[in-house]
Amino acid sequence: MKYSDKTLREAGTVLSDWFDGNGRDLPWRHTRDPYEIWVSEVMLQQTRVETVLRYYEPFLEAFPDLHSLAAAPEEAVLKAWEGLGYYRRARYLQRGARVLCENRNGIFPDTPEELKKIPGIGDYCAGSIASLAFGKEVPAVDGNVLRVLSRIWGIEAPVDRPEGKKAVADLAARMIPPGRVWSFNQSLMELGALVCLPGVCREDRCPVRELCRARMEGKTDTLPRRSARKQPETIRRTVWLCVRDGRILIRRRSGDEGLLAGLWEFPGEDEGSHGWKWDRNGDPAVRARHVFTHRIWEMEGYEVSWPEGRKLPPDCRWADRDDLALLPFPGAMKAFLAWADENID
Ligand code: ADE
Repeated sequence: MKYSDKTLREAGTVLSDWFDGNGRDLPWRHTRDPYEIWVSEVMLQQTRVETVLRYYEPFLEAFPDLHSLAAAPEEAVLKAWEGLGYYRRARYLQRGARVLCENRNGIFPDTPEELKKIPGIGDYCAGSIASLAFGKEVPAVDGNVLRVLSRIWGIEAPVDRPEGKKAVADLAARMIPPGRVWSFNQSLMELGALVCLPGVCREDRCPVRELCRARMEGKTDTLPRRSARKQPETIRRTVWLCVRDGRILIRRRSGDEGLLAGLWEFPGEDEGSHGWKWDRNGDPAVRARHVFTHRIWEMEGYEVSWPEGRKLPPDCRWADRDDLALLPFPGAMKAFLAWADENID
């Protein structure tokens, strides 16, 4: 389907007007500071607004500008991120802040092309910083925008493939009403959050219901299309709960890019791997399940005793209650942290 510039621009204007009258008052909508916008957009990419509201301001209090974020110990950044998940985002945010401070005097570039050269800033963040902070008339296309625009314009190409993404980004760019890119980009995010939801179309609230192809053609259930996705893999994992002299054994996960890298955990191992030898005492003390994007952990925690004479590996340490509160742990450890809280002095 071909759309004229006029049709696209008019739809963009309807959406911007709707946002100006109906947009939620959210803290990151009061700022035009690129750093603050960057932090909010990184948090919002994979996390719900209600959750981000609890983290955004405390994070900015702890790290009010690029320099404070760049200079902070990584562990402090991960701690401020604890509970938000997808910790790679936090590490990249800090890496990007360091690059901006070291190579660019702490000054953000204002175009998507230059922004994308910073580690951790991809297409979406580059578009949101360039448009929301600097007023550049460029779209910011995330998963919500892919859904909203593939429905409005009836895009059949899978949106998780380059051709579908490009079709959406091209239409989005042509919809931007001159001088109103801020409201326009926010309106797509707002529509995706409140009206045009995954699997649900709240057409009674939709400002563009009269022109939405998916609604007219009965396709709100089938758009956006996606190519077949791999099912997450289930991994059975044993977790060792080893208490000694009122402290519990913890380990820092290694690797720069791997799952939960840099965070602390109770040591454990995937089924089939050959790790430490332990004498397990009886049944699991804790069972827990955690769903990541591509992986599910089914965990059983066993109480074990530290064998006399065993050397403590360099990535491990003994933690008391204060350590458990201060160090960053992933959400996957929640049930084990609760167990530790009851079982150490
Ligand atoms: N999701 C992504 N960016 C957002 C924003 N600026 N406001 C609300 N939700 C969002």
